[in-house]
Amino acid sequence: MPDSTAGVATRNVSGKRRAGGAEAQQPGIALERLGVASSPALMELLPRLIVTVAAWKGGVGKTELAKELAFLLGGVLVDLDWDEGGATRAWGYRHETRATAPLLDALEAGRVPRPLSGGGVRADLIPSHPDFAIHQPPADQMASTLEKWSQSLGRPLVVDTHPGGVSSTMGAVAAAHVIVVPVNLETRALKATESMAKELQGGYPLLFVINRVEAAPEAELRQLEKLSDTFDIPVGPVVSSHTFLKRRKLTMAVCAPGRSGEIPARAAGFVEEMHEVARSVLDLALKAQQ
Ligand SMILES: Nc1ncnc2c1ncn2[C@@H]1O[C@H](COP(=O)(O)OP(=O)(O)O)[C@@H](O)[C@H]1O
Ligand SMILES: [Mg+2]
Repeated sequence: MPDSTAGVATRNVSGKRRAGGAEAQQPGIALERLGVASSPALMELLPRLIVTVAAWKGGVGKTELAKELAFLLGGVLVDLDWDEGGATRAWGYRHETRATAPLLDALEAGRVPRPLSGGGVRADLIPSHPDFAIHQPPADQMASTLEKWSQSLGRPLVVDTHPGGVSSTMGAVAAAHVIVVPVNLETRALKATESMAKELQGGYPLLFVINRVEAAPEAELRQLEKLSDTFDIPVGPVVSSHTFLKRRKLTMAVCAPGRSGEIPARAAGFVEEMHEVARSVLDLALKAQQ
């Protein structure tokens, strides 16, 4: 991956949390969280940025990456996955206890949902609902809906998706400036990545992010490089395997410094890697406009 063109000013991995909610500081909050210097192009891009995290296979890290990217970008996490164990649950939202279903209600009424506040320690959220499985709009309607929400909210949107080319995922892919594709260097995950690259070839700004790397297996790496060359898909920064993630119960973003203002030592490596991923997303989105 080439050097960041987003202009890295300072690393702020363990920076203090600023007072006040995330909502008050748009779009500068992304620059502050990422330690990226402001530029007119970024200030113009951030309020309308749409990032979709998608993969044709489950369990590869879509949700983990989406919720952290949404936090780092000071954005709204739009959860379009209806499965249990998705971003909505991880955020701490339980649809069973709610009288409304923000995603379904907004789609039905054709209005813009108001994101739930993450209180500055996790991304603001448009939560999903199990019934979205049978109430997904067609792809073109999903895409135009996300574009409308983006325009109205004026903040980065990070969309987490259901695995595979279902209509809501295809819509989120079509609306995105960058599509982050988490890739596991495993046989079946690579097969799924290949079908996705084949299906989406031509015009979609995909970015491979190798996730959960323990040791880089040569054969699988070569396979991914071939896919990257054939379909002209850049390979972004690598995210290592971090065992603590699998058993983590906290609802705050891993990348959010807690009340102490510190990132716990065990999370520092992941946080650093996520910062790199977020900067690459901004780089690619900026390049795509040139
Ligand atoms: N880099 C990583 N290291 C270790 N575990 C990870 C990593 N990324 C994701 N995981 C874990 O793998 C599981 C599946 O990830 P998830 O983000 O839910 O995948 P998906 O959304 O693609 O189904 C989760 O338990 C998650 O915490
Ligand atoms: Mg998921």
